[in-house]
Amino acid sequence: MTFIDRIYRHIRPLRFLYGWAKDAQTRRACSRHAQVWRDRGFRGAKLDVCGGRNPFRPGEYLNVDLVPLPQVDLVFDITKRFPIPDGVIADIVSIATLEHLRRPHVDHVLREFFRILKPNGTLRISTPDIEAIAKAVLSSGDLEIINQHLFGKFKGEQTEDLDLHKWFYPAPALIEELHAIGFKQAEHIPMDIGMHDPEWNYLVRAWKPAS
Ligand SMILES: C[S@@+](CC[C@H](N)C(=O)[O-])C[C@H]1O[C@@H](n2cnc3c(N)ncnc32)[C@H](O)[C@@H]1O
Repeated sequence: MTFIDRIYRHIRPLRFLYGWAKDAQTRRACSRHAQVWRDRGFRGAKLDVCGGRNPFRPGEYLNVDLVPLPQVDLVFDITKRFPIPDGVIADIVSIATLEHLRRPHVDHVLREFFRILKPNGTLRISTPDIEAIAKAVLSSGDLEIINQHLFGKFKGEQTEDLDLHKWFYPAPALIEELHAIGFKQAEHIPMDIGMHDPEWNYLVRAWKPAS
């Protein structure tokens, strides 16, 4: 429990200040975390690409995102070259992100994952399962759920481009793509990371070969 959490009941009427202070605290912790890893040349770092508002194991994984939210450690556009040297990252997770990119960008990101991972480094990708969605369409499943997974946040009038889904690899096609890039032992495994429903999302794990 942080200092702010302990005094929360006294400052309750000034909730907006609590939010501001908490964000500032989170932002400072993330900048420090990022700086420590920058100083080490990212050797052995773990990345969550892109954690956004739901970072995976904050403090252990560096949260990469385009949007400079308080809980983001490294702000950069993953459709460009990652500002990280070759062969240094120990582990990458990517949850509910690749579907927000167009195909050339997805392929670029997969290659960047391969470049920055160190030998024997692990990659885990979770993304909506287009096969499960297609089956739901064919069996007249719940349209709300189908549309949500197909198109992303489609309901608001002002949905931002970043929220929309643009490209899906079914799990076997993603596995094939990962092997073509050079990953080994890419396989579909049970969903044990992230907060997304395993009925509509899959998890694929792959390794970078030792040499
Ligand atoms: C649906 S959220 C996923 C957040 C989290 N991983 C989760 O499981 O809920 C997708 C994230 O990808 C980020 N994003 C989308 N395009 C990006 C890009 N080109 N570069 C970096 N981040 C991007 C968005 O800002 C957003 O935070």
